[in-house]
Amino acid sequence: GKVRAPTHIISTISDDRGEEPCYAGVPMSSIVEQGYGVGDVISLLWFKRSLPRYCTHFIEICIMLCADHGPCVSGAHNTIVTARAGKDLVSSLVSGLLTIGPRFGGAVDDAARYFKDAYDRGLTPYEFVESMKKKGIRVPGIGHRIKRGDNRDKRVELLQLFARTHFPSVKYMEYAVQVETYTLSKANNLVLNVDGAIGSLFLDLLAGSGMFTKQEIDEIVEIGYLNGLFVLARAIGLIGHTFDQKRLKQPLYRHPWEDVLYTK
Ligand code: ACO
Ligand code: LMR
Repeated sequence: GKVRAPTHIISTISDDRGEEPCYAGVPMSSIVEQGYGVGDVISLLWFKRSLPRYCTHFIEICIMLCADHGPCVSGAHNTIVTARAGKDLVSSLVSGLLTIGPRFGGAVDDAARYFKDAYDRGLTPYEFVESMKKKGIRVPGIGHRIKRGDNRDKRVELLQLFARTHFPSVKYMEYAVQVETYTLSKANNLVLNVDGAIGSLFLDLLAGSGMFTKQEIDEIVEIGYLNGLFVLARAIGLIGHTFDQKRLKQPLYRHPWEDVLYTK
């Protein structure tokens, strides 16, 4: 009989061999004809299934709300400096993307991991936060440079409002809110930030949609899919900042001496 030569690559999300490319088995023509949006495409290519409309709408809201946060944040700053150094689009983009990590925009997965573990183990917010403090770990998804208890992040409020209206359950988000109530009693800057809101709400999306087994949810959280939402979203803004600097013909950036403390 025929012997299949061993392959060097296994791929399960897309196939371009037929008449038209397919994302998780769904042909391009269906994607266009059925009016799929970018949330549906993310569902197919990341989660390998079509998710209900409220889930794909939530994904799209995350992307729209995280697309940009002004020129002063780490990512945009890097992109602006790089574009002004005369570098090309891709270099300017990746220079900004490289700042995404545990402090800036890349705390979504860890927020989901820690909130899930604490909630599933039945820890009170006090027990959870204090155990993190003992371990010397900042609670991912909590804290912001400019947002405060009396100046909440509008993005967080919009995500929460959408989920409270459309999700069957928001138990992880409610837990994150209880954690925030406790951390705010310690310091006014320890708000639930957009990473923490997305991390906790995505747990609710995964658990409440009925589309994922417990094992699949654990795998998604363990591998860490959710920072991808921030990376994807912020790329939109970073590309915009690159074009903005080029359009404005901005010269090479040099940081002012007055703003540096030269000391021994
Ligand atoms: N958990 C516990 N304590 C915290 C946390 C936290 N998440 N964040 C700050 N604190 C404490 C600090 O330990 C510090 O106390 P200390 O001086 O006694 O050590 C105090 O609050 C002030 O900390 P700062 O370093 O001044 O806070 P800063 O404004 O620099 O930090 C940051 C902001 C980086 C967002 C921080 O809150 C943090 O690390 N959070 C966790 C990571 C995270 O969620 N990042 C995503 C932010 S949202 C975004 O980027 C889109
Ligand atoms: C962002 O979305 O970039 C911000 O939340 C970070 C910041 O410092 O404003």
